[in-house]
Amino acid sequence: MTEEVAPVKCVGPEYRAEDQKPTATVSTVVHFDNVTVLPQTPQLIALLSIIRNHSTARGDFVFYSNRIIRLLVEEGLNHLPTISHTVTTPVGRPYDGLSFQGKIAGVSIMRAGEAMEQGLRDCCRSVRIGKILIQRDEETAQPKLFYDKLPEDIADRWVLLLDPMLATGGSAIMAVDVLKSRGVPEERILFLNVLASPEGMKSFAEKFPASRVVTAFVDEGLDEKNYIIPGLGDFGDRYYTR
Ligand code: URA
Repeated sequence: MTEEVAPVKCVGPEYRAEDQKPTATVSTVVHFDNVTVLPQTPQLIALLSIIRNHSTARGDFVFYSNRIIRLLVEEGLNHLPTISHTVTTPVGRPYDGLSFQGKIAGVSIMRAGEAMEQGLRDCCRSVRIGKILIQRDEETAQPKLFYDKLPEDIADRWVLLLDPMLATGGSAIMAVDVLKSRGVPEERILFLNVLASPEGMKSFAEKFPASRVVTAFVDEGLDEKNYIIPGLGDFGDRYYTR
């Protein structure tokens, strides 16, 4: 298991001198053209600090995770195609703007990915949502597809794949394989992720160079149980049960 050393940086309001900003560990830098890491702003680092804290109660974990998810969805939407679109304002003047082109669907990797569905719904009214359940096969220890329910016209849509944790990459890679087998071109898949390991990110980004990933943070590595470190523990347990 690799253990990268995540950089420590001064993070604070831009108007402050560097030596007056507090330091914080920011995302490991990754060099893949198809990966976007959210700007490591004071806001994002403070939100991540809350959800990483082992003593954060479930209600706060849900509230602050949802804020990060919202940032991911808003950034993810910037990666979808747009076309020029001119509108007329109430004072009768034209405004040359943009409109989104194409239909989208969200697909969550159960169960943790379902936590990201509402954030997508909050930004995209009436968005179609599908689900994929992948679990480790007890005999082979490999990820196995147990269930999927996808919109019937999924092949005609841009897909926002939702999973907050990218550890080894096994589930996300299998989910993209399922989507591709249903006719979704790789280049129309956008993976939204809260926290990734460097090795999971490498596996995913190299296997699907035409897909895109938007993540909030690439962490240091994986432990012997394939938990992301320093991580935040089991996202699904913390969001749904504890
Ligand atoms: N899934 C989680 O919820 N946490 C990890 O650290 C890795 C995978």
